[in-house]
Amino acid sequence: MAVSIRPLRPTIGGEVEGVDLTKPLSPEDVAAIEAGMDEYAVLVFHNQNFTDEQQKAFSRNFGALEIPGKVSNIQKAEARRIDGQMADVSNLDKDQNPLAKDDRIRMFGLGNRLWHSDSSFRAVPAKYSLLSGRIVPAQGGNTEFADMRAAYDALDDKTKARIEDLVCEHSLLYSRGKLGFEGLSEEETANFKPVRQRLVRTHPVTGRKSLYLSAHIGKIVGWETPEARIFIQDLTEDATRPEFVYSHEWKQYDFVVWDNRQVMHRVRAFDDLNERRDMRRTTVAGEEMTVEQAA
Ligand code: OGA
Ligand code: MN
Repeated sequence: MAVSIRPLRPTIGGEVEGVDLTKPLSPEDVAAIEAGMDEYAVLVFHNQNFTDEQQKAFSRNFGALEIPGKVSNIQKAEARRIDGQMADVSNLDKDQNPLAKDDRIRMFGLGNRLWHSDSSFRAVPAKYSLLSGRIVPAQGGNTEFADMRAAYDALDDKTKARIEDLVCEHSLLYSRGKLGFEGLSEEETANFKPVRQRLVRTHPVTGRKSLYLSAHIGKIVGWETPEARIFIQDLTEDATRPEFVYSHEWKQYDFVVWDNRQVMHRVRAFDDLNERRDMRRTTVAGEEMTVEQAA
């Protein structure tokens, strides 16, 4: 059966049928999925009961894997629950139990409840994120996606002209700082050194412009910080209006792929002290910086 895609929302999201992603795919299927990503920016697949190896193999169809590491989290290698080439976005510890209320990893992970784009804090930011729902909670824990192309298109011409060449500084220090997360070591702080990104970016295939917003933004180059922060907050509120959003309600073995160059996302609350949510993410690395800078 060939890949078929049903639109989920007017501008964003497609539900895919007709493919088993746990098996090697034909070049035609890979091309159809990539074209679907360019158009819908978020694709939803059901009943994909992956092993970690199968999830990584599928992800590599779209480029090299981005490896999480010290620049993207505070987890020590020995505390890892899953494969080191994948991001563990579960609420679980090594014994598969929910993280304790005051666990530092849990506190840090709460940053995913803010609208963001994955790895916007890397000089070369991510292309796709691919998230597999291995265990999902009975209630809550939706992942929401906001269409940054539609959000850009909806801006008035004056605003478009004003932001065209703006450059922002992104860091985990800024997104975690917003939550009042404290106690980063000197080494962690050094790992989270801010990087620069254009505020308006152009998709390499479709040529469409989008707003490159993220909770990781803390500064706009050349602006006073308070003005930059409130400007970004206003833009973010406008860009995440319900008309631009697809909210994914997880079923077990759902698999959702999004293009970080075209959407922001966030996870919603669930009873994480009592329920299990085992989510594993692979990330396809981006290929270019949005502004020239040291890597
Ligand atoms: C992510 C993330 C969302 C979720 O994996 O990048 O932000 O639903 N997680 O857990
Ligand atoms: Mn994320």
